[in-house]
Amino acid sequence: MNSVIIRAFLLYSTLYHVASDEVQATPRFTNEDDCGVSVISRSGAISRVVNGTASAQGQWPWQAAIVLSSGGSLSVICGGSVINNKWVVTAAHCFNNEPLSDISVFLGVNDKSNGNEANRQILQLESKTCHPNYTENGNFANDICLLRLTSDVSYTTYIRPICLPNQGSSESVGQSCIVSGWGETENTGNNNILQYAEVSIIDHTLCSGWYQAVGLSIPENHICAGYELGGTDTCQGDSGGPLVCQQTVSGSTSYILQGITSFGSGCAEVRRPGVYTKVSEYIDWIDEVVGSSATSIERHSWALVFLCFQCCFFVIQAVY
Ligand code: ARG
Repeated sequence: MNSVIIRAFLLYSTLYHVASDEVQATPRFTNEDDCGVSVISRSGAISRVVNGTASAQGQWPWQAAIVLSSGGSLSVICGGSVINNKWVVTAAHCFNNEPLSDISVFLGVNDKSNGNEANRQILQLESKTCHPNYTENGNFANDICLLRLTSDVSYTTYIRPICLPNQGSSESVGQSCIVSGWGETENTGNNNILQYAEVSIIDHTLCSGWYQAVGLSIPENHICAGYELGGTDTCQGDSGGPLVCQQTVSGSTSYILQGITSFGSGCAEVRRPGVYTKVSEYIDWIDEVVGSSATSIERHSWALVFLCFQCCFFVIQAVY
């Protein structure tokens, strides 16, 4: 009789687990496995990915290279950021309806020209979900895509996820942040080694005013970062890559993904800072896409299998 009670309790708790799983708030990934920390600390002054500094191996461990294979050759078309062990976030404008099988994600890369780098992991895409309101011929609004990998990323010293900000949060104007990528350096550095630079968050209205001069509008959910006088900036090929800002919460400091390199007018020019998709406006969407994927389906199906077993035991117990 006791065991019937115990089983009834187990059954009830599993049912409760399955049911509450359904209604639970979508999972957050902000603090996924010590996100946003690099074991390689920055030293010395940062020069002002035009006018950047060459990174050390593992310095920006969330940095992904989005690689397109076409006609037997591989090229890095964009950057991206690891947000957890199954997903990479990048820009929507990086793609042109290429088949998924032509795109791969390289992690742990420092020198993109060196195929023998020891820390690399190469992953394939299971799916690509771009923001539904990204319009190819529009003003780059909602320039964000999520890439689901076919196998799990294994975290190492050189490969780690970045933290995500809270939905609706904002960085303050003037805050110093870091951009990185293998894009065009305009002869200010080595295009093969991952470059990084410090850029400063610029007021949206001020930036919109500057861009009006060239007939470009800055979408509401984009942020500008760089310098009024130019000089340092992301450039062609850096798109999709991270703009990260440091944040200290109860004594521990980590980098948060605040922007995704989206567009600009020229590179590093006066009053034409880089323009980045504002990640904090897309957290609910990211949670929705990532949370509704197979990870949670897997979780549910295990709970269901367990539930079936318990039902069987319960019935057997009741009959005999
Ligand atoms: N659209 C570019 C790309 O596809 C990124 C340009 C960034 N430009 C800038 N001035 N910050 O790589």
